[in-house]
Amino acid sequence: MRKLSIGVISVLLGVFLAVGVFAGGSKEAAAGGTGKSTLEIFSWWTAGGEADGLNAMFDIYRSKYPGVEIINATVAGGAGTNAKAVLATRLAGGDPPDGFQLHAGLEVEKYDPEKYIMPLDSLYASEGLDKVFPKDLLTLLKYKGHYWGVPANIHRANVMWYNKKVFADNNLQPPKTWDDFFKVADVFKSKGIIPLVIGTKEGWEAGHTFETILISTLGADGYRGLWTGKTSWSDAKVTQALQIFKRLLPYVNSDYSALTWDQAAQYLVDNKGAMHIMGDWTDGWFTSKSYKGYGWQPVPGTAGIYDALSDSFAVPKGAKHEQNALNWVKVVGSKAGQEAFNPKKGSIPARTDCNPALFNDYLQSAMKDWSTDAIVPSVVHGAAAVEKWATVYKDILNTFATKGDVASTQQALLQAAKENGGA
Ligand code: GAL
Repeated sequence: MRKLSIGVISVLLGVFLAVGVFAGGSKEAAAGGTGKSTLEIFSWWTAGGEADGLNAMFDIYRSKYPGVEIINATVAGGAGTNAKAVLATRLAGGDPPDGFQLHAGLEVEKYDPEKYIMPLDSLYASEGLDKVFPKDLLTLLKYKGHYWGVPANIHRANVMWYNKKVFADNNLQPPKTWDDFFKVADVFKSKGIIPLVIGTKEGWEAGHTFETILISTLGADGYRGLWTGKTSWSDAKVTQALQIFKRLLPYVNSDYSALTWDQAAQYLVDNKGAMHIMGDWTDGWFTSKSYKGYGWQPVPGTAGIYDALSDSFAVPKGAKHEQNALNWVKVVGSKAGQEAFNPKKGSIPARTDCNPALFNDYLQSAMKDWSTDAIVPSVVHGAAAVEKWATVYKDILNTFATKGDVASTQQALLQAAKENGGA
């Protein structure tokens, strides 16, 4: 018994030390022996595509600053499900990483930026960043009069990916309306192919799907208004969106609550699933799998609207390697950094001067849409609302995905809006 507990303690100690080094708890020790200074970069990019993109940007950094050892401090979990809480604890506890992933938009409010984040206005001026990013993005990045992060990319959330083979085999066209969606879904169901694949394991994916359905019933202005108080959550079009989502549920894979977004996408790769509603990091993931059998189009009813989000990197106040961190955000904002990162990540560059020829067909089509579509902010990915509201919204939709109660869900959404400045 005594032996066992000593064994358990030493295992725990080992795990503790390993986690400490990995999470940057003893950064100097991690670089120990190499004589290098370090740069700890915090993100949630662990899946195929996103991890590859990050590494490509690390390579650019290493070539410019060979004396710096990079510590890749990731906390797995799509959309920052786990990472955001860890980051908030580290910032408040005086143990910040040197740089961290932050969505452009109201997500920054969660981290009390005036206390914990370094404003980057002078870096924007010295690097000319206010001239290379689109105006709408610059507006989204500014909070309380300052720039808090440098954007690496622009993602689109309202994409419906589909397996070209199963559509061709069944002589079907990818649906552009929800009515057509249910027609093709019935055919796939009768053939034993999962019509719509989804994974809700991490708790944000149902909310992601639903924001795209809201866009389809409300349109760009109506959807934007949900987050500014101009559209009431009691609107009949919100009810309609919930009804559409409820109707989708019998067409999804039965193991949805056990799967992450990328595990669900595997059904398409395996020719077992027909469609998947997910952001365009899926393009990066497909690319990392060398899978080419996918097509794409906007989620039914959302053509001409770009549900957008942007990943930026911020530098905390009190970063232990501040100069290394400032050099990191310069790389993030640079042409070379964005051209290395985005083709792998499955996003389009935030900069307007990158070479489109470096990007695959999907990303080239996204660049075109970005320049012509109406842009609306994603709520699940930090752009549209403060984190407190976005979190309640996600939780409500996650419950809806299992219970399917339209009236009580709409009531809960209305209540959440009222508590957060909505209507
Ligand atoms: C988003 C993030 C993307 C991608 C996705 C899945 O929130 O902006 O870059 O990582 O989550 O994890």
